Amino acid sequence: MAEFPEGFLWGGATAANQIEGGYQEDGRGLSIADALPGGKQRFAIVNQPDFDWTIDEDKYTYPNHQGIDFYHHYKEDIALFAEMGFKCYRFSIAWSRIFPNGDETQPNEAGLKFYDRVIDECLAHDIQPIVTISHYELPLNLAQRYGGWKNSYLVEFYTNFARTVLTRYADKVKYWMTFNEINSAAQFPVMGQGMVPATGANDKKNVFQAWHNQFVASAKAVKIAHDLKKDLKVGCMIIYATSYSYDANPVNQLANLQHNQDFNFFCADVQVRGEYPAYTKRLLAEYGLTFADLKTTDGELALIKQNPVDYVGFSYYMSTAVETTGATTDQVAGNLMGGVKNPFLKASEWGWQIDPTGLRIALNELYDRYQKPLFVVENGLGAIDQPDKNHYVTDDYRIDYLKAHIQAMAGAIADGVDLMGYTPWGCIDLVSASTGEMSKRYGFIYVDLDDAGNGTLARYPKKSFYWYQDVIKNNGLEKPNKDSEQA
Ligand code: BG6
Repeated sequence: MAEFPEGFLWGGATAANQIEGGYQEDGRGLSIADALPGGKQRFAIVNQPDFDWTIDEDKYTYPNHQGIDFYHHYKEDIALFAEMGFKCYRFSIAWSRIFPNGDETQPNEAGLKFYDRVIDECLAHDIQPIVTISHYELPLNLAQRYGGWKNSYLVEFYTNFARTVLTRYADKVKYWMTFNEINSAAQFPVMGQGMVPATGANDKKNVFQAWHNQFVASAKAVKIAHDLKKDLKVGCMIIYATSYSYDANPVNQLANLQHNQDFNFFCADVQVRGEYPAYTKRLLAEYGLTFADLKTTDGELALIKQNPVDYVGFSYYMSTAVETTGATTDQVAGNLMGGVKNPFLKASEWGWQIDPTGLRIALNELYDRYQKPLFVVENGLGAIDQPDKNHYVTDDYRIDYLKAHIQAMAGAIADGVDLMGYTPWGCIDLVSASTGEMSKRYGFIYVDLDDAGNGTLARYPKKSFYWYQDVIKNNGLEKPNKDSEQA
């Protein structure tokens, strides 16, 4: 078993809209996440042609309004992270807490004060804060009034937001990410680009235009960070779902190659290499588009080229398989994407195909391609937990999942991959992004809250809490002792 490098960033990850609550406190404005209904029908509802972001509390529940009330529990939660031994904690800054409508020029000081407290609390516990600037929580006004990221005005608004937080925290936060899972818009532009069918989400030209605007905004944030302080590190953040051809049929192999380009690599290729990849031509042509159909300027392309990201952050939960010839029609669900069922893999209760070896493949594929440090900033198992009468959850299934993925990371490090850290998703139970459920739990810490919003909000360490504490203490999985190694 390979060692994890000294200083490896063990920690956990969350996002503001899924944990904070306090959705109207201290001047916070509404975000798109506040308008997403709870429950398994979440995506079906927001994909309806007439969905216009109206919040209708008579018709739907809105679990993101309360989150897990981290807004008032952050001290207790960060203390629990510290008890596990976290070296870092990845969270996002709610844009609408800082710029309530997104388009103001002056920030909301009360919103910044909250993150002052969160960051200082982390630092007091020797936990390095890691910030995602935008995690599926565009100010609602920017979606309603401006139509989301297809509108180039958002570049300026984002830049203002990014400059505000980068400047404020440059001395306290070293690692940043510009957009969470920027490539998710390939499947679902609602959360990443703030566009619904009524505002053009189904027109691919809008999706590509929105990406271009985000690439420009991301490059500007990288520049601001580096101008502020040379050693600030800004990463991209993509969903990576290792993809296999279903069989050895060359037709499927080619389809898989293209799926990898279009889904896994496209955004990172631009953000890491600083230019649109050659296959952009084929990708746009599939939608009847050419690059000239997008509004881009030479100045923007130069900015993107001059300001690539410093590292590649990615989420990894599952893999997919590609089949285009009709050899199977067995479909499965997944993290904002589906695909055909891989007969070699088991799936989670939500149908996501569990594949730790796929993580080792992902790490090798990404490192071969980019030669930049990698950071696994999300990974985990969403599962239904059954607490006993003392609220203790014996979550061996979660431990097994995480252990296998840690083994895969160790394998990739032994392969030569430069891996900076690991922040499992939802280190404390939180509201799920795709379904708005509390019952889909990822945490090491159980939160007493159900899908209807009932519960005491009390926090209870699960079995995985103590297991992960050991992992961090040992800087990896416990190594077999000498005797058993020789046996
Ligand atoms: C990622 C997101 O897609 O996966 C998170 O960055 C999300 O916001 C996580 O919560 C898990 O997905 P879900 O739908 O199970 O919450």
